[in-house]
Amino acid sequence: RDFSALQNIEDYRKRARRILPDMIWTYVESGAGDHLTRLDNEAAFTRWKLRQRCLTGQAAPSLGTIMCGVDVSLPVALAPTGLAGASHWSGDVAAARAAEAAGTRLALSTASCYSIEEVAQATKSNHWFQLYPFADRPVASWLMRRASDAGYGALIVTVDVPVPGNREGERRAGIGMPTVLTPARILDIARRPRWMANALLHRRNVPVPYVEAERLRFDGAAGARQAWRAMQQDLGWDDLRWMRDQWRGRFYIKGILDADDAEKAIDLVGADGIVVSNHGGRQLDRAMASIDALPAISDRIGGRAEIYLDGGVRRAADIVTALCLGATGVFLGRPYLYGLAVAGEKGVGEIIELLRSDLHRTLILMGCRSVRDLDRSWILKTGEEVP
Ligand code: FNR
Repeated sequence: RDFSALQNIEDYRKRARRILPDMIWTYVESGAGDHLTRLDNEAAFTRWKLRQRCLTGQAAPSLGTIMCGVDVSLPVALAPTGLAGASHWSGDVAAARAAEAAGTRLALSTASCYSIEEVAQATKSNHWFQLYPFADRPVASWLMRRASDAGYGALIVTVDVPVPGNREGERRAGIGMPTVLTPARILDIARRPRWMANALLHRRNVPVPYVEAERLRFDGAAGARQAWRAMQQDLGWDDLRWMRDQWRGRFYIKGILDADDAEKAIDLVGADGIVVSNHGGRQLDRAMASIDALPAISDRIGGRAEIYLDGGVRRAADIVTALCLGATGVFLGRPYLYGLAVAGEKGVGEIIELLRSDLHRTLILMGCRSVRDLDRSWILKTGEEVP
């Protein structure tokens, strides 16, 4: 039994909030606009009820499944998050190593603070690479080639950032390129001497592949702002088809909320699957909660392609609900950044183990044998009558 003060993800959230300087906290936690989508991602899960079947003798439920072609020990992987090195200097390397030790994977962000190769070298297994689809094809194919050479098994292309979302909190806090440091902000950072010392010592606060891409594209002449501009604004389905053709491994499209788009991802692009996601509520505020978008999408493409979901997953009940509605697995975003902020690699591992034991217990209490058995018959929408 663990009597520690950190019993659930919310406990880690509160601890991380104390550890991180305001600027970094704002970057991690912020949503777009009024944060309605960010908050609804979590709230929408609570509108579903789990069914409980007793005396089924299911004392050792099976949690393993296959995500992006890899056997994982639980249906949970780590979502790509940019600038993870700001939460803790060990950033993406720590996240990848913790995921591997737990029998799952990290999707490494294009805006990671360690290079594609550094993360590959720090781990034994193949991880997955998230690509922001740079409109500049040489840059995109150069990043894809590097990920493929370094042994990444799956490419996840994020399509919900044609422009950055309206992150008012980030602007107010001075986060951007360049970051604006005022005396008050410096004082706030100085109040976290350990974070500050590590940040100065390790200097892992820069989006490495971006900076490299920028160098490639502009001969080192321009700021990262330009690399950002060279991103997704004018991209269409043809560009995704082109990326699919460039990449030999498994191919996924992240940031889909609409059943027609899901169908295009599969039929037009030939993706192996999609990630139903609204970027953790950081892009289009008032977009649907991920879990609310899932049923129509799995009705449309379920069985033809893999479906994953992220956004607001904080409890095993959320994972179960997503699986019941057609997802094969879920990704965590902020939760593992909280773990990272609190205790680096160890903290990320703790977040995964917390969800694993929660999931184990939840399945026993439901009377369910395996995560792979979960389907619509195991949940009810609030107000829905038992059939
Ligand atoms: C993200 N997300 C993200 N997505 C992506 O494809 N590339 C990226 O670089 C980032 N960067 C990023 C930074 C931070 C600080 C956060 C919180 C999120 C979105 C991420 O992959 C995922 O979709 C959401 O975080 C899922 O929601 P939760 O789990 O944070 O509620």
